[in-house]
This record gives sequence, C-alpha cells and structure tokens, in this order.
Amino acid sequence: MKLINGKTIAATVKSEIANEVKTMIDAGRKTPHLVAVLVGTDSASETYVAAKERACKEVGFTSSVYKLSENITEKELLKTIELLNNDEGVDGYIVQLPLPKHIDTNAIISAIDPKKDVDGFHPQNVGRMVMDMPCFLPATPAGIITLLERSNIETEGKNCVVVGRSNIVGTPVSILLSRNSKKANCTVTLCHSRTKNLKEICASADILIAAIGKAEFITADMVKDGAVVIDVGIHRVNDNSEKGYKIVGDVKFDEVAPKSSFITPVPGGVGPMTIVSLLNNTLKAAKKS
Ligand code: GUN
Repeated sequence: MKLINGKTIAATVKSEIANEVKTMIDAGRKTPHLVAVLVGTDSASETYVAAKERACKEVGFTSSVYKLSENITEKELLKTIELLNNDEGVDGYIVQLPLPKHIDTNAIISAIDPKKDVDGFHPQNVGRMVMDMPCFLPATPAGIITLLERSNIETEGKNCVVVGRSNIVGTPVSILLSRNSKKANCTVTLCHSRTKNLKEICASADILIAAIGKAEFITADMVKDGAVVIDVGIHRVNDNSEKGYKIVGDVKFDEVAPKSSFITPVPGGVGPMTIVSLLNNTLKAAKKS
C-alpha cells in the first residue's frame, strides 16, 4: 500500500504557481486576486475559506473575503455578485457553498461572470467541461486528476467507480475520468443512494472514488485487492481522545488501506489538491484579464 500524499503534491504545484506569479509580476503584470464570498458562520465553510486565504498568501496572490450575514437576502447577494463581476481588480471569485436555505444556489451560481467563475460551477463552464472545451474545471475533480497523474497511476481502460453524484464532485469527476484523454480513458460507473448492489459494484473498481459525504462509509468488503482508493470525504467524529474528536473520510481507512495499492489519507489527501486547483484557475483567470 502506498499513501498518496496530497500535501506534498500540493506543495510542488504551489511552488510552480508561485514561480509563475513571480514571472508575471516581474513582467509588470498585476498580482492575481481571488475573492471568497462567505455567507453566514458555518464552521466547515469558515475553515475552508481560511485555508484558501493561507494558500493565496503562499503563492503570492492577493486574497479577500467578503463575510456576509446569514440573513442576507438573495437580492442583496446578487448585488454583491454584480459588484464582483464589474470589479476589474478581482480576477476570480468563489461563493462558498452551502448557502442558507432561503437562497437559490443555482440563481447565485448562474449570476457569476463565467470568466471569473474559478470554481467552474457556472452552467457555461459545466457545459464547456462536458464538451471538452476550454473552461475552468471544478477544483476537487481537477485535484483528483492531478493526484492520479502525479502519482503515475495508470487510468487508461481501468474500471472506475465513483460513489456520490454531487454537482461539485461526483458528477464532474465521472465526466472527466471518462474523457478520451491520456489522463483519463476510464470506464466509469457513477453510484448513488439508489444504486442496487453497491457493494459488488464498488468491489469491481480498479479506482474507487468515495464522495458520498458519509463518515467511514466504504468498508474493506467493498474494495478489491490492489484498488486505488481516493477519499473525498472529511468529517469530524467524536471519540475518547484528548481532543474529543477525530477527522475521518468517507473510507474506513484502517481496514481499507491494507487492501489498496494506493490510498489518499484524510486529512492530507484530496483536500490540499482542491485548493491548489482553485489557485490554478485563478492564475488562468488573471492571465486572461
Ligand atoms: N463547498 C464545498 N466544496 C466547495 C467548493 O469547492 N467550492 C465552493 N464554492 N464551495 C464548496
């Protein structure tokens, strides 16, 4: 079993981005600027946004956070979106999800200027991704592809099973891995809450991607010997340790790791790569602006 160290791979990609930023600035270009819009006080969202800010500093980007009240109306949030769309000092921005229930997430995402949509969530970017046209790729799926590529994991012709069909991870990663490309060319099965024989399907995977959002859902009996296991989940579960909790993924790591050829840890696997993909998209946006 080999651990796929997302932290190390992310550090390498970040140093490549930092070098590009330096070259841009030396050439008289402005510093790339990423904005995160954070609505409310969801603690997981606050943690993600703080990590994104730290990463921006590491590569030499400017970063700002717009902290907005949980009670903001959809109309007011749309005004902020318009402001960001028209602000030439902003190269790219993200609206951290989930949004409060009274806000229509799709209406907000659709209002983002696709040229600044560094999350790759706008319907125009999603459509272009499906059609294999230039676009901003969603960060977590792009991070997974980079992890596989930089770990020299062969994907061509492999059976890939994705568990979870979210717009952010499961659906786009299933599309990207089935593309006709050296980095992909998998035969992909997308499983979800209504899938029959989930255990058998998972156990047929050469590459298993767990993005179901349930703590330690994937157990050893669902994994083929020698499979590559990519764990997208991150959960805080209470335990008897000094801290009172531990961080786990969607995979029961201790029993699955010995069966797998490669596996991502949680934390330190997919998470750092998601942020790196966002930085890559912001750099791309800044180069175009
Ligand atoms: N919430 C969980 N993952 C993401 C992400 O990649 N982007 C945004 N905007 N919100 C998220």
